[in-house]
Amino acid sequence: MGLSEKTIEICKATAPVLTEHGEAITTKMYDILFRDYPETKALFGEAPEDQHKKLAAAIVAYASNMDNLEVLGKAVESMAQRHVKTDVKPEHYPMVGVSLLGAIKEVLGDAATDDILEAWKEAYFYLGDILIAREKEIYETA
Ligand code: HEM
Repeated sequence: MGLSEKTIEICKATAPVLTEHGEAITTKMYDILFRDYPETKALFGEAPEDQHKKLAAAIVAYASNMDNLEVLGKAVESMAQRHVKTDVKPEHYPMVGVSLLGAIKEVLGDAATDDILEAWKEAYFYLGDILIAREKEIYETA
């Protein structure tokens, strides 16, 4: 099951706005994540300073390739490997998802319509499920 046409269209259309506010959104996302789910903080113990930029870049790359997911193959592998090294688990995905959507909502304000938030929610969990599946394989062979 892929993403709906509507979701792909909305995400592609809003990718430039997310790019523009990418750093503000990811910074806000970490604020919300560490405030509401402090247990996730330990996972980022060794995180480099540029982690915010990497996540922002991943979101944008994802948005630009939403209907061409193979392009993201290499990035998915790199993210999955890093996530397993830092002990990211499936239960963390909803925490990051809720924090990311909250951040988009806060930064974009009125521009973040329900349709836009719904589309990004769908897209986030779609990518999240791909990562979770790959990470499960890596955990099992480790
Ligand atoms: C769709 C969801 C996600 C995306 C797109 C994403 C993206 C990324 C990217 C691009 C990196 C850098 C990979 C590299 O260095 O090559 C990364 C690393 C990392 N992510 Fe995620 N991530 C997601 C979900 C999560 C979740 C749910 C957690 C758990 C709280 C998490 C925690 C981390 C940690 C701890 C690192 C390593 C930081 C470091 O030490 O470098 N991520 N992620």
